[in-house]
Amino acid sequence: MEKEFKIAKPQGKLGILLPGLGAVGTTVISGVEAVRKKLSLPIGSLTQMGTIRLGKRTDKRTPKIKDFIELAQLDDIIFGGWDIFSDNVYEAAVNAGVLTKDHLEQVRPEIEKIKPMKAVFDRNYVKKLDGSNVKKYTNKFDAAKMLMDDIAKFKADNNLDRLVVVWCGSTEIFLKPDPVHDTIESFEKAMKENHPAIAPSMLYAYAAVKSGVAFANGAPNLTVDIPAIQQLAIQNNVPISGKDFKTGQTLMKTILAPGIKSRMLGLNGWFSTNILGNRDGEVLDDPESFKTKEESKLSVLEHILQPDLYPELYDKFYHKVRINYYPPHGDNKEGWDNIDIFGWLGYPMQIKINFLCRDSILAAPIVLDLALFSDLAQRSGMKGIQEWLSFYYKSPMVAKGLYPEHDLFIQLMKLKNTLRHMKGEDLITHLGLEYYD
Ligand SMILES: NC(=O)c1ccc[n+]([C@@H]2O[C@H](COP(=O)([O-])OP(=O)(O)OC[C@H]3O[C@@H](n4cnc5c(N)ncnc54)[C@H](O)[C@@H]3O)[C@@H](O)[C@H]2O)c1
Repeated sequence: MEKEFKIAKPQGKLGILLPGLGAVGTTVISGVEAVRKKLSLPIGSLTQMGTIRLGKRTDKRTPKIKDFIELAQLDDIIFGGWDIFSDNVYEAAVNAGVLTKDHLEQVRPEIEKIKPMKAVFDRNYVKKLDGSNVKKYTNKFDAAKMLMDDIAKFKADNNLDRLVVVWCGSTEIFLKPDPVHDTIESFEKAMKENHPAIAPSMLYAYAAVKSGVAFANGAPNLTVDIPAIQQLAIQNNVPISGKDFKTGQTLMKTILAPGIKSRMLGLNGWFSTNILGNRDGEVLDDPESFKTKEESKLSVLEHILQPDLYPELYDKFYHKVRINYYPPHGDNKEGWDNIDIFGWLGYPMQIKINFLCRDSILAAPIVLDLALFSDLAQRSGMKGIQEWLSFYYKSPMVAKGLYPEHDLFIQLMKLKNTLRHMKGEDLITHLGLEYYD
């Protein structure tokens, strides 16, 4: 196959900037440090542990992804970020309570050096939080310019070759697309006028993309899901992706639902409930932030089950998602799913899932992979929406007019085929007839 992409080598250092150094942010930074010190394996990370089959099954070519394609090395990563609290990463990680103190002590010297830059924050968009490590600005355009200065300074101070931004900040209130999001001009005008349709996360996204830096959106916020930022990304040759890291219950949904559908089993209802007690849970206790999360979680089943194509099986199934803030559980979220399915002659059956998960443990390797793949995309000249990264998101961004692909296994095939395509390898169709000629 003809090689389609010229991939620039990952020379020098890669900066990974995280708006939001909370549970997820500190867990990924501490974890990468532990892996660098050979204290642990990067479990859960496809870029570090995954393999990719090349050619025929009989060829026996299955390198690790990181040996196949030019990814930045973990030793070349420098982390930084912004937060509304001034705690360094060690203090914030202790506070988040995801990793044990013993674990954190082993990487303490490295992570306590990382201090958050002052955040662009507005309580109107995250009602449950208030912090003092915030910038003062006259208007939102001004705020975005300050973030661009932060990015440039971080790059110069750390002698970086390239940068990526991954949003690990809180879930903001639900915002609908607004006409001011339609063009770069209307967006910039609205920033100068402090328009309410422009949330802080959009200012980070604008600042990154304007600075030529890739942006990945880990929250369900609208952020880069608007035409203005998408146009800017194309204009500035910047890859963008989103939204909302696919962990926990939604991960399970996108594993299970494709299986139910592939066997043509019907669905009457899927009731999902969660209890969690971390700061994310507290933020989601606000109905307006919850609405943003709910929208992101609900669309998954509709898209996987395609009731329009299979009305006899999936028309009018009842789908409910609940999240309850329950402090004693901390970051250890507990999810329950009650799934009412039906089979041959309509006989009902039930599936119950009780997932005792650790949200940030599932999210951390996603942040690492998204940063490394976004950097790869940028070095390969890929710009705008990166649909091949859908694998990592609850609510994947796609080109206008397309429906998102939610099935985890299709997403993985899409991701690996994109890597094969980039390297000029044959795509794998799983046809397999050639073995029986
Ligand atoms: N943990 C998961 O599995 C998971 C999965 C999917 C999505 N997410 C999303 O990732 C985000 C982070 O989750 P978390 O568990 O780390 O939450 P968290 O509350 O522990 O951390 C978020 C941090 O962002 C900071 N913040 C808020 N607004 C900011 C701003 N404007 N600028 C800079 N910092 C800001 C907060 O102060 C906080 O420290 C949330 O939006 C969450 O919904 C998490």
